[in-house]
Amino acid sequence: MSPTTAPALGLLFPAQARAAAPVDTVGIADIDAEPERGDFAIPAEGLTDGQRLRALDRMDGYLTRKRRHLVGYQATQELAGSALDLARFMLSNINNLGDPFQSGGYKPNTKVVERAVLDYYARLWHAGPSYDPADPESYWGYMLSMGSTEGNMYALWNARDYLTRPGAPRPVAFYSEDTHYSFAKAVRVLGVDTFAAVGAADYPGECPLGGDWPAEVPSMPGPSGHSWDGTGAVDAEALAVLVEFFAAKGHPIFVNFNLGSTFKGAHDDVRGACERLLPVFERHGLLPRAGEDARRGFWIHVDGALGAGYAPFLRMAAADPAFGWTPEAELPEFDFGLTLPTRESGESGESGESREVDMVASIAMSGHKWAGVPWPCGVFMTKTKYQLEPPTQPEYIGAPDSTFAGSRNGFSPLVLWDHLSRLSYRDQVDRIRRSQELAEYLERRLRELEQETGAELWPARTPGAITVRFRKPSPALVAKWSLSSENVSTTPGDPAGLRGYVHVFLMPSVDRSKLDALLADLARDPVILGIE
Ligand SMILES: Cc1ncc(COP(=O)(O)O)c(C=O)c1O
Repeated sequence: MSPTTAPALGLLFPAQARAAAPVDTVGIADIDAEPERGDFAIPAEGLTDGQRLRALDRMDGYLTRKRRHLVGYQATQELAGSALDLARFMLSNINNLGDPFQSGGYKPNTKVVERAVLDYYARLWHAGPSYDPADPESYWGYMLSMGSTEGNMYALWNARDYLTRPGAPRPVAFYSEDTHYSFAKAVRVLGVDTFAAVGAADYPGECPLGGDWPAEVPSMPGPSGHSWDGTGAVDAEALAVLVEFFAAKGHPIFVNFNLGSTFKGAHDDVRGACERLLPVFERHGLLPRAGEDARRGFWIHVDGALGAGYAPFLRMAAADPAFGWTPEAELPEFDFGLTLPTRESGESGESGESREVDMVASIAMSGHKWAGVPWPCGVFMTKTKYQLEPPTQPEYIGAPDSTFAGSRNGFSPLVLWDHLSRLSYRDQVDRIRRSQELAEYLERRLRELEQETGAELWPARTPGAITVRFRKPSPALVAKWSLSSENVSTTPGDPAGLRGYVHVFLMPSVDRSKLDALLADLARDPVILGIE
C-alpha cells in the first residue's frame, strides 16, 4: 500500500499524541446527540411553519451526520441519485395491494414496475419465466413491505403449508447458529418446530452429534475448534447428520441457508450442502419418484438478505475474464438454477433415465441493504409449483391476497427499479469488487494498527465477505460510527472468555477516507489502548 493513499498510523498519531489526546467523547456526544422527543411534540394547535421547518431541519441535520458515519450495518447510504427524480411520485398515494401479477381494484399502483424488478432478479437467480399459473416452472414473487424478515417469514409459512400432510409427522426447521434472529421469530409466529425443540421433546438424549440437542445447527469450527472464530458458514456435515435423523423418522424438512450472514457476512456453500442432503432426502422418501405427481418432503430457502443482491455478480466475474477481476473466494451456486442428479438415475438407476432435481424453493433479499432503497423493503421469490392457494380471495381488493401484507409499499419498486436501471452488470461487478477490496484494506490496516499501538484488535474477515470484525471500542466510538456489536464466548461456559466484537460492512457508501477516519479514532480510543 502506498504511503500517499494510506498514511501509517504511527505517522498520523505518534504514541505521545495518542496518549495526550484520547477520543473526545464529549465532542462526539454533542455532535451525535439524538434529537429530543420534545423537538417533535405536536401541540393541540399544531405548529407554525417556522416551528415545523425548524423541527424538520433538526432531524435532517442529525440524519445527515449519522449517515455520513454509518459503517456498522449492511445498509448502503449511497442513495442520492433517486431522490430528485422520484420525489414527484410522493404526490400519489401508491399502494400495490394484493398479488403483483394482477392489477386489482386500487389503480394508483406500480405493479408493472414491481414486475420489472422481479423479472430482473428472476433472471439473475435463474428462476425461470415470469409468473404464469399454467407453468409450474415459472417464478412467482413479490416485493416485501418489510425487509427479509418478512421474506423469511413468508418462506417459512409457504413451506409449512406445503410440507404439512394430515396424519404425517410435522415439518422440522433447520438453521445455523449464524442465522439472523428473524428465523427464531418466524418459527415462533408460525408455530413451526425447530429440530432442537422436537429433538429435546421427543428424542431426548438421542442427538446424533452427541450430547444435548444444540439450539441451532453448528457453524463451521475455526482454529480454536469452536465456531466463534470460524467462517460463519454452516457446518454442512453436521446439518446432514441432523437432517438424516429427522428424515428417517418421517419428518418433512425445512432448511435455511445464509448468503451474507448477519455478523460475519458468510456465504453458506448451498451447492455443497445440497449435494450432501439430496441423497438423504432420497433415502427417506422425501423426493417423489420420477413421474410421481406428489409434493416433495423438503424445502430449501436461501436467506440472501444481503448477499442475493451481489452474489450473481460475484459469480459472473468469476466465470467471465472479460470483467477483469477474479473474486478471492469462489461462490458456489445458490439459486433456483441449482440442480443435482438423483442417485436413482446417477448410479444403478431403476429407470436408467437421467433426472435433475432443482433444490432451491425460495429466496429472500432486502432492498435496503445492498441495493439501497432508503427504507425497509425486499424481494421474495419462489416457483409457481410451490405456491399454495392464498387463504382468502377478497373481492374487495380485486386481486388475490397472496402476499403477507395487505397494503403494500408501491414506492419501493420505483426506487429499486430506478437504482437497477442506472447500473450495468459491469457496474454491479465493480460495486462488489470495490467492497471486497475495501474489506481487504480494512483488515490489513487493522493489523498494522495492532503493530503500531501494541493493542489487540482481533481483526478477522471471512474470505469473500464484505465485513470485517474487530474488538469493540468505547461506547462513544460505537455510537459515532453506528457499530453493531456481538459478544462471543471463546470458552463455552466460561464468562471470563467473553469477547466483545463489532463489525464494519463495506457497503457502496463506505470509502477509504471513512475507514482512515475510523482507524484514526481507534488509534486513540481508550478502550482499544487499554487506558480505561
Ligand atoms: C442474514 C439476514 N437475514 C435477515 C435479515 C433481516 O432483514 P431485514 O432487516 O431486511 O428484515 C438480516 C438483517 O440484517 C440479515 O442480516
